Amino acid sequence: MAKYIKEVLITKEEIDQMCRRLGAQISRDYEDREIILIGVLKGAYAFMADLARYITVPLKVDFMSVSSYGSGTKTSGVVRINKDLDTDITGKHIIVVEDIVDSGLTLKHLRELLTTRNPASVALCTAFDKPERRRVEVDVDYVGMKIPDEFIVGYGLDFDGKYRNLPEVSILGDDRDLKDDKQGGNQ
Ligand code: IMP
Ligand code: MG
Repeated sequence: MAKYIKEVLITKEEIDQMCRRLGAQISRDYEDREIILIGVLKGAYAFMADLARYITVPLKVDFMSVSSYGSGTKTSGVVRINKDLDTDITGKHIIVVEDIVDSGLTLKHLRELLTTRNPASVALCTAFDKPERRRVEVDVDYVGMKIPDEFIVGYGLDFDGKYRNLPEVSILGDDRDLKDDKQGGNQ
């Protein structure tokens, strides 16, 4: 195992099962409807690609890039849009696809923002969820896996921009200089 990895938390097979299950659930829930999947860059790119291939209803994809600002002591709740959607979502069924829910600020803010554009419906989907870290309440419709309060990398998730390409999800080694405000600017 590479030095920077403490342990593998979720294997490739478990990730595949998770995507299959969520894809089937979404396909059932949206039967006879068309959806737009909105991936939150960059972290969600791997999950979005896998999930979409297990969804059988007609769909379009689009992406947003946002930066959230929060810290251990302050919860500003400010989410800045770095890249907005290309698609008009008015009257459409949209599902926001995230890599992980931590404080909950990003998804809460995105739901509020996208709702103002009058879509037919807004649902939230995340691959991973760290419920212990929640600072604001947010109702996530589709959750792949709940995980303990550990900093994870791989399958799209990064530390300092790296490790997104690892095929499984791993806990980063203790020797990393993890700052409390992990998410700042690097979604
Ligand atoms: P939230 O707004 O605090 O829920 O932040 C969610 C964002 O923080 C995610 O989309 C990730 O980009 C990042 N993040 C939170 N926890 C982790 C982690 O364990 N590894 C990598 N990125 C994380
Ligand atoms: Mg993210």
